Amino acid sequence: MKKDHIGKEFMEKTKYEYVSKSDQSLGLPQPPLETEYAHKRKSFDLPDPKELKIKDYNLRKAIEERESVRKYSDEPLSLEELSWLLWTTQGVKEIYGENYATLRNVPSAGARHAFETFLLVNNVEGLESGIYQYVALEHKLVEYIMTDGVADEVVKAAYNQKMVKNNSVTFIWVADIVRMTWRYSERGYRYIHLDAGHVCQNLYLAAGNINAGVCAIAAFHDDIFNKVLRIDGENQFVIYLASVGKKR
Ligand SMILES: Cc1cc2nc3c(=O)[nH]c(=O)nc-3n(C[C@H](O)[C@H](O)[C@H](O)COP(=O)(O)O)c2cc1C
Repeated sequence: MKKDHIGKEFMEKTKYEYVSKSDQSLGLPQPPLETEYAHKRKSFDLPDPKELKIKDYNLRKAIEERESVRKYSDEPLSLEELSWLLWTTQGVKEIYGENYATLRNVPSAGARHAFETFLLVNNVEGLESGIYQYVALEHKLVEYIMTDGVADEVVKAAYNQKMVKNNSVTFIWVADIVRMTWRYSERGYRYIHLDAGHVCQNLYLAAGNINAGVCAIAAFHDDIFNKVLRIDGENQFVIYLASVGKKR
């Protein structure tokens, strides 16, 4: 098979007729709803989504004004605004069954919600610069990589797109693929990409409420980025990024 046929092969072999029985149908245990995080690390409770004083913004305006923004003002995001963006993209509204699934503000195939959100924080009130992990089930942030120079490593992994550092925050969505393939086997690899689009679109629209701009980013070096995040690149891999900052 020629290398440039790999996309066609992927679409062919992930048709339902080829897909093997899923771990779920074989009775194998379900993976946890969220990746474990290091409990001993410093954590930050985010403002409660129900209490946020985020102004209303007309949905039609948000949709029609949406555009990719790559340059930002120096104004930081507040923790409340960051809470809003995390809530609208991955916030957990409900857990149903006995830890069977989460319902969130975005749709997901089979409600698998197989993402972890990491943030490269560059300019957010009250947070030191560094990479944080979002704990969606508890709506809080945990310090993840706080070493000097980590923002430059992210710039490098994003093929030198400087906006990932010259902004307030870069959202880094990591796929925890077993959460999806447990139900859908190889077809889950299609669904994870579809799910990621919904998440980023909510970010674009939610940014309208706080006068922020967003740019989706898919040009990054997979292996370098996974290494920066200390994930294995197979069970967990970076799937999509988005840069966010206040509009000029
Ligand atoms: C899947 C995807 C990947 C993208 N990757 C990048 C990127 O790596 N760098 C970038 O500057 N813009 C990126 N963009 C933004 C597009 O360039 C942008 O959406 C397009 O030019 C249309 O402009 P608009 O969003 O302002 O309507 C990406 C958008 C999508 C949906």
